[in-house]
Amino acid sequence: MLWIKNGQLVDPIKGVMEQLDLVIEDGRIAQQPPRGVFKPEGEQIEVIDAAGKVVVPGLLDMHVHLREPGFEYKETIASGTLAALAGGFTGVACMPNTSPPNDCRAVTEFILKKAALAGFARVYPIAAISVGQKGEMLTDFGDLKEGGALAVSDDGFPVVSSELMRRALEYGRYHGLMVISHSEDRTLSGDGVMHEGFVSTRIGLAGIPDAAEDIMVYREISLARLTGCPVHIAHVSTATSVELIRRAKEENLPVTAETAPHYFSLDHNALRGYDTNAKVNPPLRALKDVEAIKRGLAEGVIDVIASDHAPHSVLEKEVEFDKAAFGLIGLQTTLSLTLELVREGVLGLPEAIAKLSLRPSRILGLGSGHLEAGSIADLAVIDPDVEYEFKASDVLSKSKNSPFIGRVLKGRSDLTLMGGKVVWRRIP
Ligand code: NCD
Ligand code: ZN
Repeated sequence: MLWIKNGQLVDPIKGVMEQLDLVIEDGRIAQQPPRGVFKPEGEQIEVIDAAGKVVVPGLLDMHVHLREPGFEYKETIASGTLAALAGGFTGVACMPNTSPPNDCRAVTEFILKKAALAGFARVYPIAAISVGQKGEMLTDFGDLKEGGALAVSDDGFPVVSSELMRRALEYGRYHGLMVISHSEDRTLSGDGVMHEGFVSTRIGLAGIPDAAEDIMVYREISLARLTGCPVHIAHVSTATSVELIRRAKEENLPVTAETAPHYFSLDHNALRGYDTNAKVNPPLRALKDVEAIKRGLAEGVIDVIASDHAPHSVLEKEVEFDKAAFGLIGLQTTLSLTLELVREGVLGLPEAIAKLSLRPSRILGLGSGHLEAGSIADLAVIDPDVEYEFKASDVLSKSKNSPFIGRVLKGRSDLTLMGGKVVWRRIP
């Protein structure tokens, strides 16, 4: 038996903060007695004092690149899932752009086997939409589902053919697999390396216009309307995307969306020093986009915050800006940067936690992300007030490509539990 006492409990289902204790038995949440009421009797009991801390469901990151198989020098399933635990995440959904890509059951099963061997955060494989992520032929959704995939995406690449995307949505619904769209018109993004705007002109880099994203977001919404099938838009970065998704939701179309912390914490000015760690796809946008993303989060247009954790080694980042890979790591900074939105008044704490747990869980069809009695005790104990400098030496990922290294951040996870057991603890 485990007793977590004196904490503030945030249950995203209830949407409030409460002064409740948590009692865990046999790896599951047994009861939530009011503070000071629970009196343990006799048996062996482990006690965690969470005074001044916030106790939340284990966070779920629905957009992570674990790089295994094939790019183990950037990240492995073991290193990525350990970084996840340190960030407060007990679950990660991993994207298929590995080598080979996760386009068949053998790869899905390999990922699950490696994740079980590592024994850190739970891993939910996202399989490819098309064979080889080439956009030509659909993968075998039924077989992938049986192998353990719970969504499909060609992330890293757009699905160029609208007809193929239509079929993906139809087969995805039939098999109960969410389809996740990397929305990008490559004929427009072309050789661009950052947001097309004032800064790209000023510093002389090729731009990626926001229309490259908006056009594809509009297509996905049109296909959701045509087929009635659900679609989830990954890494939303533009004001127009937010507006399009808002209207789709007003129409009651089955469209959901996520953004990543860098799209509400940074803008294209972060590229002025040619920092390749701020080179990401879609690119960091203009201030008006950052404002729109925040409004979209506040108004529920954007359902989820996901890291888009995209590790790349120094080999791909310490090169000329044009040649550097797109992507930045985020598993260990996502919670802190999201808590910044709470301090700014953009989100209440329960809603911020919901966007990191309950909402992604529901989109992926998992039953987790809340603290109802009987649920598996996957939890994070957060210190919301601690200030710390995020250092390269804090990074548990194999790659250190974060534009937030050296920044003073506030709030982080101190303790992560899975199935009622402490699986990660911050050493003070
Ligand atoms: C991702 C990667 O490196 O795999 N990069 C990125 O900039 N976001 C791919 C992706 O999520 O599109
Ligand atoms: Zn992507």
